Amino acid sequence: MSYFLGIDTSTTATKTLLMDEDGQVVAVASSAYEYETPQPLWSEQSPELWWMATIQSVRKLLAETRVPPAQIKALGLTGQMHGMVALDQDGKVLRKAILWNDQRTDPQCDQIRQKIGKDRLLSITGNDALAGFTAPKIMWMKEHQPELYRRVRQILLPKDYLRYRLTAGYATDKAGAAGTLLFDLKERDWSLEVIDALGIDPAWLPRSFEGTEVTGMITHAAAEATGLAAGTPVVGGGGDQAAGAVGMGAVAPGVVSLTLGTSGVVFAATDVPLIEPEGRLHAFCHAVPGKWHLMGVMLSAAGSYRWFRDTLAPGEDFGQLADRAAEISAGSEGLYFLPYLTGERTPHPDPLAKGAFVGLTVRHTRQHLTRAVLEGVAFGLRDSFELILATGLDSINQVRISGGGTRSPVWRQILADVLGVELVTVNTSEGAAYGAALLAATGAGCFLSVQQACQQVISITGSTLPGQDQATYQHIYPAYRQLYPALKPIFHR
Ligand code: XUL
Repeated sequence: MSYFLGIDTSTTATKTLLMDEDGQVVAVASSAYEYETPQPLWSEQSPELWWMATIQSVRKLLAETRVPPAQIKALGLTGQMHGMVALDQDGKVLRKAILWNDQRTDPQCDQIRQKIGKDRLLSITGNDALAGFTAPKIMWMKEHQPELYRRVRQILLPKDYLRYRLTAGYATDKAGAAGTLLFDLKERDWSLEVIDALGIDPAWLPRSFEGTEVTGMITHAAAEATGLAAGTPVVGGGGDQAAGAVGMGAVAPGVVSLTLGTSGVVFAATDVPLIEPEGRLHAFCHAVPGKWHLMGVMLSAAGSYRWFRDTLAPGEDFGQLADRAAEISAGSEGLYFLPYLTGERTPHPDPLAKGAFVGLTVRHTRQHLTRAVLEGVAFGLRDSFELILATGLDSINQVRISGGGTRSPVWRQILADVLGVELVTVNTSEGAAYGAALLAATGAGCFLSVQQACQQVISITGSTLPGQDQATYQHIYPAYRQLYPALKPIFHR
């Protein structure tokens, strides 16, 4: 039997997953760490944590499963996107990594738009400048830490720093690279125009590979540290969203993955690079070779529901709270909820956007408020669906759902009714680490293609069809759409 490994370097833990050649998950081990917020809006992490957590989780997995390391035929990497790791000429980390959820770089985003022009930036990279992306972090370092900046010789994403420790080589995957704002979306390679305009040395950026391509081999030193076999190939893998979509089988147009966790992500694979003209969606390369994807990100999805439960129904069970909300009719008798509790990315890239209940009357009970929260999040996700369809994607035939929020049948039904599509669950639940293992297995020749791998190992386990409330939601969604523009001046004041 051959085995494959997927390693996910997330913001809170490194998760290592072992998969067999039939796509069955054999075991998962994870090792947690913290991130630091040394100043308001800042978010940083020491790259050494990722390496230590990788050693721990790989060793734990090998000890538990007793799989001989030589039978692990390839390894795939995934992890948090957009973070900046800066190295000097000896490959030493110059400062803590600045992470994807760091918001300090708004002024640098404005500078980038000014230098390149928003339209040109969008047409090359597929994206507008967002504070979380990598390029503005590099510009921030140049401005605020010039001494360190002068010593920079290499810029890596978090997962690629791990790759460097494992293989001693500098490389990245195209899905992750597309999230730096320095990548030419159509060409699937670095954009010399953007890099030049920002005064960055192109030699600092690693070569980019497709998700299934081999980027290097496990070195003797890494083998000694982790227990893996020296010479094991490491494939490109992908940013956590793209690898997660592979793990859900969202690898062809028409199949969309919807993740309802703290944040809500709508991920649509595309055969061609599509761009939302105002940059309200992210447009990145997929981890599937030669494919792309569009992505809408809502920052407080199930996070809104958690806030509501903790604040207005402390100690209550999420499922039971939602069940009682099902006694209220669709539309919550005129009550609306705006889910922008931590600002927003899609469809309103606005860190100052706020949450709101609108339309309260004395008739409304806690059940109405609960239902309004579930509906408000569903409307917010529909905004991403609308933007994705408007870019020219033919249709959305099936939506594969995952994440804690989708465990509630009531919320699932509300989502199906608001979105007007069939929602299905699948047999895989290990997300990005599983996707990375599938990319490794495909790269090692175990499957003909990523699409074939997904067809073979991922199956549908349940379905929720739109029901009678669909018409009601169709009717009230336009009113929800008017709320943010109406309230924006007040939020900003
Ligand atoms: C994607 C994104 C997050 C991070 C953290 O654009 O910002 O998914 O990768 O996991």
